[in-house]
Amino acid sequence: MFEAIEKILDLKKFKEEIFKGKIFVFQKSQFTLDLIQEIKTEISSEYDGELEKIHYLDECETISMNLVSNLKNSKIFKELFKSFLIERGFYNNNSYWDQFRIRIAPAEDKFNYREASRISSHRDTWGTNIHQQINWWGPISSVDETNTMIFYPEFFSKPVKNSTSTWDLNTYLDHRKRNDFSYPSAPQMLEELPEQVKILPVTIQPGEILCFSGCHLHSSSKQKSEKTRFSFEIRTICQQDLDDKSQAPNTDCDLKWQFPKIFRNINDNSPLKFTR
Ligand SMILES: [Fe+2]
Repeated sequence: MFEAIEKILDLKKFKEEIFKGKIFVFQKSQFTLDLIQEIKTEISSEYDGELEKIHYLDECETISMNLVSNLKNSKIFKELFKSFLIERGFYNNNSYWDQFRIRIAPAEDKFNYREASRISSHRDTWGTNIHQQINWWGPISSVDETNTMIFYPEFFSKPVKNSTSTWDLNTYLDHRKRNDFSYPSAPQMLEELPEQVKILPVTIQPGEILCFSGCHLHSSSKQKSEKTRFSFEIRTICQQDLDDKSQAPNTDCDLKWQFPKIFRNINDNSPLKFTR
């Protein structure tokens, strides 16, 4: 299900495969290695220990929260990421992206701050209802089955119960503006997956970058781990896919609206807008 790739030769075919559920792993290059190095350098100005062992510190949660918030949407990370998109044949000058985020998944599942915690099962499209959305994800520290991200491949096309029919991005953003974190930051899954559900753990190396449809059901590993995981992520939407209605199937998202405004044009930073 994971397919290694160096460069996209046929962008249309690549997108079709993504929107059917295929998951690609872009191989390392100088740009991706520079990106990891740059992120590590920025992290080291606030925490210079071994990344996988940050949970041994008493103040681990505070440091993690600060790192996540201080490194959010860094210009230099985005520039390097854009260079990566160009060198691989993905970027065609009319695409949008959301924020470039560093995420810290603690060895023990005990923290609440969203981007410094483990994340339960979800589809990223539950938050936007835009099925052209493509996710990019890469580890910064080493990952194994216990501390990585996992996919539930059978559920790419199988619906699960979720709270999209009652969740609203604007309500969440209003709460957040008031520093009120009581409203969930994204819709939640409202059922348990079967015990024997097939899982696909992502065990790629720093410098390799995963690319997948935002419709995939995924979560942080549920296993106990000895290692904290640092990773980065960003999402893109291409205008061409919006124009062509080239997209993944909407399996179970019941949001009333689409929420394009978290996406900005890569070239001029103008917000993505839909007329309705
Ligand atoms: Fe996600």
